[in-house]
Amino acid sequence: MMNKNQIYKLLILFVLSVSISCKDSEGEYHSVVDKIEHKSKGYHGVLISSDNLLEGTDLIKITEGEHTFMIPERKGKIKSYSCTECHSKPLNEIRGDHKSKKAHWDIKLAHANTNAMNCATCHNGNDMDNLATITGKKVDFNKSYLLCAQCHSSQFDDWKGGAHGKKVAGWAPPRASMTCVNCHNPHQPHFEKKWPARLNTQKIKERKDQLGH
Ligand code: HEC
Ligand code: HEC
Ligand code: HEC
Ligand code: HEC
Repeated sequence: MMNKNQIYKLLILFVLSVSISCKDSEGEYHSVVDKIEHKSKGYHGVLISSDNLLEGTDLIKITEGEHTFMIPERKGKIKSYSCTECHSKPLNEIRGDHKSKKAHWDIKLAHANTNAMNCATCHNGNDMDNLATITGKKVDFNKSYLLCAQCHSSQFDDWKGGAHGKKVAGWAPPRASMTCVNCHNPHQPHFEKKWPARLNTQKIKERKDQLGH
């Protein structure tokens, strides 16, 4: 057993040895390797993380192939979910006489050729609370990217790797990426090309000519 004095001596020795041995050419570090390791841990000693930026975002974790990351939850955002509040019976039994507006009058499909795609390509009339693959497999609304992946495999691969799409907040881990439907409306997914906005002097001239000025 050590007595109190011995313990104090040991403590002082320890403190001295630490402060002496670290005063070498790398300042407060033992070696340059130590310095690199310590500084890589974070900027100004704070670990780099997107955690605080993601606070309040409803995320789910997914694993696709070798990639595991988070995407925003969707079901809570879909205004007419859950579908079975109305779709408790087969479609032909709930179809109205259409003297008034159709139920989903605001949804116009402009995606693929109408011979290749209609509502039933993605929505299974017998189970509206879930999406459906072309072969009739059930897909959760939170994982609708699996639906898109059937036909857009190259964008899906790019997205998994982080080359298509965008992060939800910061680039630092943990990885949280927007899912396909955060950017593309599944019913009208195409984006028009955007040209840089500028003053079109030719158009102004033509307009003036038309007005006879
Ligand atoms: C407020 C009631 C209501 C809710 C909620 C609702 N639907 Fe419907 N839906 C209808 C009715 C009624 C029809 C029949 C269409 C018609 O003839 O008006 C319909 C038709 C459809 C059709 C067939 C459209 C067609 O032209 O063949 C699809 C697909 C559909 N709904 C999907 C959904 C999905 C997916 C959800 C949930 C995200 C949903 N619906 C939620 C009432 C609803
Ligand atoms: C390419 C696949 C696809 C096709 C085709 C498709 N949908 Fe959808 N639909 C989706 C996906 C995916 C969602 C969920 C989007 C999200 O997460 O916001 C959705 C959402 C909906 C919703 C819920 C929207 C809301 O905001 O309440 C309704 C209703 C719906 N679809 C009806 C239809 C009808 C009717 C058709 C045919 C005219 C149709 N869909 C065709 C994929 C499709
Ligand atoms: C059953 C096959 C199929 C499914 C499922 C599908 N698409 Fe498509 N999509 C097509 C076809 C076919 C076209 C039109 C041809 C083209 O431009 O590639 C198209 C076109 C598009 C375009 C426009 C392409 C362009 O050049 O502007 C986008 C964006 C798109 N789809 C995104 C999606 C997203 C997001 C989903 C999932 C919600 C989805 N698609 C599901 C077949 C599909
Ligand atoms: C952060 C937003 C965002 C996300 C998430 C996203 N996309 Fe896109 N996508 C775009 C934009 C913007 C374009 C248009 C690029 C252009 O026109 O140059 C595009 C283009 C496309 C095209 C047209 C062909 C092309 O490459 O230009 C397809 C198909 C497509 N996306 C499918 C998908 C699928 C499938 C997913 C999910 C696996 C997805 N996108 C996720 C923004 C997104």
